[in-house]
Amino acid sequence: MKVLVVGGGGREHAILWKLSQSPKVTELYCAPGNGGISELALCVPIKALDIDGVVSFSRSNGIDLVVVSPDDPLAVGMVDALEGAGIRAFGPRKAAAEIEASKVFAKGLMKKYGIPTAEYEVFDDSRKALEYLEGLGYPVVVKADGLALGKGVVVAESFDEAKDAVIRIMEEKVFGESGSRVVIEEYLSGREVTVLAFTDGKTIVPMVSSQDHKRAFDNDRGPNTGGMGTFSPSPFYTPETAGYCMERIFKPTVEAMNREGRTFVGVLYFGLMLTKTGPKVLEYNARFGDPETQVVLPLLKGDLLEIFEACIDGRLEEIKVEWQEGAAACVIMASGGYPGKYETGYEISGLSELGGDQDIVVFHAGTQKVSGKYYTSGGRVLGVTAMGKSLKEAVQKAYDGVGKISFKNAHYRKDIGLIGNGRV
Ligand code: AMP
Ligand code: GLY
Repeated sequence: MKVLVVGGGGREHAILWKLSQSPKVTELYCAPGNGGISELALCVPIKALDIDGVVSFSRSNGIDLVVVSPDDPLAVGMVDALEGAGIRAFGPRKAAAEIEASKVFAKGLMKKYGIPTAEYEVFDDSRKALEYLEGLGYPVVVKADGLALGKGVVVAESFDEAKDAVIRIMEEKVFGESGSRVVIEEYLSGREVTVLAFTDGKTIVPMVSSQDHKRAFDNDRGPNTGGMGTFSPSPFYTPETAGYCMERIFKPTVEAMNREGRTFVGVLYFGLMLTKTGPKVLEYNARFGDPETQVVLPLLKGDLLEIFEACIDGRLEEIKVEWQEGAAACVIMASGGYPGKYETGYEISGLSELGGDQDIVVFHAGTQKVSGKYYTSGGRVLGVTAMGKSLKEAVQKAYDGVGKISFKNAHYRKDIGLIGNGRV
């Protein structure tokens, strides 16, 4: 089969890496891809949001399956367009992708169907939002309604911070129309866990749990980023918690989407907070997480393509999805300054020194390959993933890998996967 993956980050590299192990895959393509991906797939210069470009490329090249990976093409209906053109596609349709594209929709869905989440209010008028903030205790969480590259959420410790967030999101429109509405919600404390799940709209199959470190600096300091590192599984996600989540959160969400006429087929991402009063949903995403995928897929046994096809065909129930024992950790190496301003174009050295180790894989996010050399081209540059018998071993190996790689102004957290002292 000829498979095209839409996207060009570390998550797409991990998806392609796993697909490349499928005996059924004959040719892999990626639009637009990146330096590292070009080792596995033919990268075509079509932007991830270019629906017409992806449809016409798929048609003229006889692509058998398109995997639409990032949030924004899903949100604008790339899967609907591909299906309309008679091309098989993996990912939710536009109406289902709204579970991520609108936080107002997602919160309304949870409220309507009794799915546990933080208390909240929605505002489309900044004056009213500011008035409401005056009466609250802190911290509170301010969220732009729409997509904002993972940066539209502010955990505000004080009224002034919350006010500033509302003004930036709603009045200065730093995230454009995504900020026309805001959700102001109750701050939840506890352990954060991500659970990705395959679903065909009937059956839901959770993957191994994982945890993302979202803040830019060690000890969870600094601004939120797209993710600075991950590990899997989460030791806090016990079988008992998993059972509760299945019955109270995962199945009810799939069922709620069906009842709303928005059947979800693809990967559903549950961002959970394990609070004292039980697990609650922080957010849904309509796709694999980045960089969660970089630790979850290396632990998947078997053929990812087979699972994608079973989801599309509505026969996920018939498929066995199995996971390896042990753990995986991924350390993101970013350009200095990310998630703010940063410079690119620096040569990356040391990658070839990792070639021999089966337990380490480097997933490229923002890289370009020119004349056989790799250069930085984005905020998040590389995700160095390692597998181990234990989390400790996986973390150690990932940092050994990181130690061999260098580029100018490289920044990475030193505490990915460290458990203890209230960290992780
Ligand atoms: P989201 O994109 O909604 O997951 O938010 C990004 C991050 O903000 C989450 O991973 C949490 O760390 C934090 N966050 C979001 N909502 C809440 C909440 N209600 N309480 C505490 N932290 C939150
Ligand atoms: N790692 C968070 C996300 O993919 O949204």
